[in-house]
Amino acid sequence: MAAADTHEIIVTNVERDYQMGEVKVHALRGVTLEMKKGEFVAILGQSGSGKTTLLNMIAALDIPTSGSVTIGGIKVSELSRDQRTRFRRQHVGIVFQAFNLFPTLNVRENVEIGIAFDLEADDLHDRASEYLQHVGILDKIDNYPSQLSGGEQQRVALARGLAKESPLLVLDEPTGNLDAETSEEIWALILKMNRETNATIVAVTHQTSVSKIAHRSVFLRSGRIWGISEGSAED
Ligand SMILES: Nc1ncnc2c1ncn2[C@@H]1O[C@H](COP(=O)(O)OP(=O)(O)O)[C@@H](O)[C@H]1O
Ligand SMILES: [Mg+2]
Repeated sequence: MAAADTHEIIVTNVERDYQMGEVKVHALRGVTLEMKKGEFVAILGQSGSGKTTLLNMIAALDIPTSGSVTIGGIKVSELSRDQRTRFRRQHVGIVFQAFNLFPTLNVRENVEIGIAFDLEADDLHDRASEYLQHVGILDKIDNYPSQLSGGEQQRVALARGLAKESPLLVLDEPTGNLDAETSEEIWALILKMNRETNATIVAVTHQTSVSKIAHRSVFLRSGRIWGISEGSAED
């Protein structure tokens, strides 16, 4: 695992409304949060509490209705769509809640597509293999997504997000489809990634056990932070 430049994240008074016909949904109601360079932050909360909406802000996938988001000194909430696309490409590894695998690409290609373009083909293959090995699915490298179980697809999505070795890694319930044992292995891998590359990591999860390994856990309720706990992460 290569060391990445790392980013601090400053989220200030972020609100995000969704207009649903006549109805306005207040998904985030004023969230302020700072994450240090190399910090591993878990985001917890019930379904509908705004976790994915907040993660989308931190990944520069979406911008707030009001408030601001700054990542590594760049005010991403003021970038254009195109600029945000470029920002994500360079800075952010993303593992989506829905795996978002390309059906016509095999496992290897689905991982390689997330990795930087400046690698030679051999290095690209090596990197993809390395991370497929890490998540325990190297044996399916030539398969297509339709030939994989939900848990296997999730591992491929994880390999893709991690293999980018980006300064910022955001994960949305990355172990939601995995059994308890595999899930524990994956969190251990994410923690290892955090330590070895010093990437800033923000991970949404339902599993309260993740609070033990993260540096901090942020609890959301109805679009607001209602609690933050320091992790017992042993360094
Ligand atoms: N694209 C959208 N359009 C309308 N409402 C949305 C949209 N995305 C999320 N919401 C609503 O915003 C709230 C927060 O959603 P979300 O951030 O997905 O929560 P979580 O990830 O914690 O389950 C929910 O009430 C959800 O229904
Ligand atoms: Mg969600």
